[in-house]
Amino acid sequence: MNNNFDENKEFVKRRITPEAKKPNAVPSNNFGQVRRPQGTAGQQRKIPPANGPYSNTQARPVAPRPQPMKKPVPPAKKAADKISQKVQSTPRVKEKKTPVSVGAFIKNALIFTSMLLALLMLGFSLILSGLHVAPEKTENSCTIYYGNSPKTPTEAVVVNDVLYVNLSEISEMCSFTVSGTKASLRYTAAKGEYIEFTIGSVSAKINGDIVNMQGAALIRENEDVWIPLNFVENYFSGILFERNEENNNLKISREILPESSDKDPIYAEVTFKVKGSQSLSGVAEDPYVGNYVELDFVNDLSEYEQYMNPENRDDYLILVNKTNHISSEDVPENLVSIVDVRRDGRKEQMVECAEKALEAMFIELRSAGFKDVSVTSGYRSYNKQVSLFSTYLQREMSNNPSLTEAQAKEIVLTYSAFPGTSEHQTGLCCDMHNLSSADVSFAKKEAYAWLKENCHKFGFIIRFPEDKTEITGYSFEPWHYRFVGRYHATRMKNLDMCLEEYVEHLKKGEE
Ligand code: DAL
Ligand code: ZN
Repeated sequence: MNNNFDENKEFVKRRITPEAKKPNAVPSNNFGQVRRPQGTAGQQRKIPPANGPYSNTQARPVAPRPQPMKKPVPPAKKAADKISQKVQSTPRVKEKKTPVSVGAFIKNALIFTSMLLALLMLGFSLILSGLHVAPEKTENSCTIYYGNSPKTPTEAVVVNDVLYVNLSEISEMCSFTVSGTKASLRYTAAKGEYIEFTIGSVSAKINGDIVNMQGAALIRENEDVWIPLNFVENYFSGILFERNEENNNLKISREILPESSDKDPIYAEVTFKVKGSQSLSGVAEDPYVGNYVELDFVNDLSEYEQYMNPENRDDYLILVNKTNHISSEDVPENLVSIVDVRRDGRKEQMVECAEKALEAMFIELRSAGFKDVSVTSGYRSYNKQVSLFSTYLQREMSNNPSLTEAQAKEIVLTYSAFPGTSEHQTGLCCDMHNLSSADVSFAKKEAYAWLKENCHKFGFIIRFPEDKTEITGYSFEPWHYRFVGRYHATRMKNLDMCLEEYVEHLKKGEE
């Protein structure tokens, strides 16, 4: 293990400005190296309109949608105006022949009304035929278009690198029985087998067994349910998939069983099978990836959108670990106080963008009922880390006097970073929990389950996961959250990668 924290200084470029050094050092664009965020305090970022198309409470359309149909009111109004003008312009003298005029007027009005109705119906059918963009569908097949299909330019279903299919279409095609609420839906096939989805969650239940999908189940604006294609391919049997790369479409149909004497085609019964999952490849990246995430926030967080999902999305991927060190002189620009700290006079700080995203996460966390979680540690200076590490070292040695200092240090290094190797010095992470001190038992709390499921939506990752200790070099820390921005946090979650793996993945140019 390399703990000689000064020897790798060249790894460290200037995102973090040393105090009393020039503030505008050139940033590096290489992932995994420390660099300056562009969207810092002095820099104005575009604020999305509170209820605009990119508001967090709405799905962002990935391509322009057809304009809403023009209301057929104007012709009716014109005709009504005409009638009213006609009535008004009728010479006064005719009013004296009241009994005859009323009959004629009613007759005329009836003629006008039927003409109007005919016109309205014609108008409606013309408008509808011009705007119809629903996927092609026959009784036992449906065609889903993705990417920039010339046929349906409005249909784009690649979300965070994952190709989605419309489950409502498939369900109709397979005659599933749909039950449950809008948030949690159950699709039951003929033999009683069922599959259950919770909107916004990557977990699905197949006949009671939990299986994770590549991406969360979504409800798109037309109220249909969409799920990753790869999941359908892996777990549904009796369905055929024909992908046409030229036309960017995918035909999904029920398998036709071998011929029988019966002249009508016999379609396979669709069943759900638990099989090993495999990743989907060859799907082009959607330009809006990272923005098009279905978010089920309880609160209006549109003001925080610019922080949770920053425009300069690659600026928060700084990798500081046992081999990528940070200089003792480095101090982040733009540190601000963390709002949700323990009420014990604690003053913790984070870089502004990360802190604002954290505020948003706390707003939702509180709404989910977790009132007692708070931040216990944010930015830590180099000197603070020196003193912390030394305290831990002393503690280990006094707990077990037979240890040599080197042995005690090895133990401490599994849970505390040697000064110059802690990402707490970047100001992009914090520790939070609802225990008296950070402990792995936090992983058993419901608050942790909520954070694990949702933190990526706010741009955070669990930096030291339970199953990545060999790669991160640290034991599981359910309390340590690192800001990387929603785009990368979501991708890391989908790819099931920790920061070390993800930075490597980006360096190799993998998608
Ligand atoms: N506990 C983490 C590894 C740190 O000290 O930065
Ligand atoms: Zn920490």
